[in-house]
Amino acid sequence: MKKVILFADTGIDDAIAIMYALKNPEIDLLAVVSGYGNVDREKTLRNVEYLFELAGRTDIPVIAGATRPLDGDDPVFFPNIHGAEGLGPISPPIPEERYANRTNFSKLFRLIKKNRQEVTIVNVGRCTSLAIAHYLSPEVMREVRETFVMGGAFLVPGNATEVAEANFFGDSIAANYIAQNARHLTIVPLNATRDALLTPADVNFIDSRADTPLEEIIKPILDFYYEVYQELEPGIEGTPQHDLAGLMATLNIPGLFKFVRREVRVQHEDSYADGLSIADFRPGTTNCFGMGCVRIAIDLDRDVFVANVVDILTNNVDG
Ligand code: RIB
Ligand code: CA
Repeated sequence: MKKVILFADTGIDDAIAIMYALKNPEIDLLAVVSGYGNVDREKTLRNVEYLFELAGRTDIPVIAGATRPLDGDDPVFFPNIHGAEGLGPISPPIPEERYANRTNFSKLFRLIKKNRQEVTIVNVGRCTSLAIAHYLSPEVMREVRETFVMGGAFLVPGNATEVAEANFFGDSIAANYIAQNARHLTIVPLNATRDALLTPADVNFIDSRADTPLEEIIKPILDFYYEVYQELEPGIEGTPQHDLAGLMATLNIPGLFKFVRREVRVQHEDSYADGLSIADFRPGTTNCFGMGCVRIAIDLDRDVFVANVVDILTNNVDG
């Protein structure tokens, strides 16, 4: 069983990843660190609390992540993507005392130390909180078994700018730090996640099997996300589940991904290319090995993806 700590900026596809983690018997979700992203940190924290309440899993620690990127600038929010509150049409009825005043990383470090060399970190938001954890305690972070990051776009269009994916663009300094310093790192970029599509028919099927409060919000939030994507990319067949794909990369599902190994840098100086993910894909370049070498998921099989996701999301275990 994978012991996973998820670093999220809990919006819609983050929420689907959390549901999948709760429902998949191969995943033991140890904690969620939730920071700013498309909406502010307090909203993303509230969303995690809401999901755990629906699932009856308020025992899982929720840790407050970062409120702004490492350059100190005010974060740029994108409420048009995941909705004003981050969960599409839903305004989670969670009282402020449940998520305000949550504090620091001591709980995170305790969990990693208690589960030495067993924790898999999956980062599906801006990399700020994860970079801060590395800055605060490199010794403890060396006890992490492996790290997966959803972010970047290698030689394909970005989604936040022409060249940059949203998580890397949102904090390119942190993304570059993690790309160069996290050990046993896998990056799951748009190259793979743009094909992690759930169509309205997939969602309707999942909904037809929904019989718990958690399962019942899948359709409303993904219907909202579908409308948003139809505006962004008219004609797209479904909604890309970027964060879920990042989480699924931890599971070695046969045939799901193709990987290459390259050194990775992220453009992080003020320029029109801020957040651009860079690796050497020139013809004749081969896989790297050793320190600084990152595994990159460059392709995802959509049929394998859908079959697995439908299977997990329609099983009747919430947590
Ligand atoms: O580019 C995809 C990422 O941006 C995902 O993490 C999604 O949740 C959005 O924030
Ligand atoms: Ca996210």
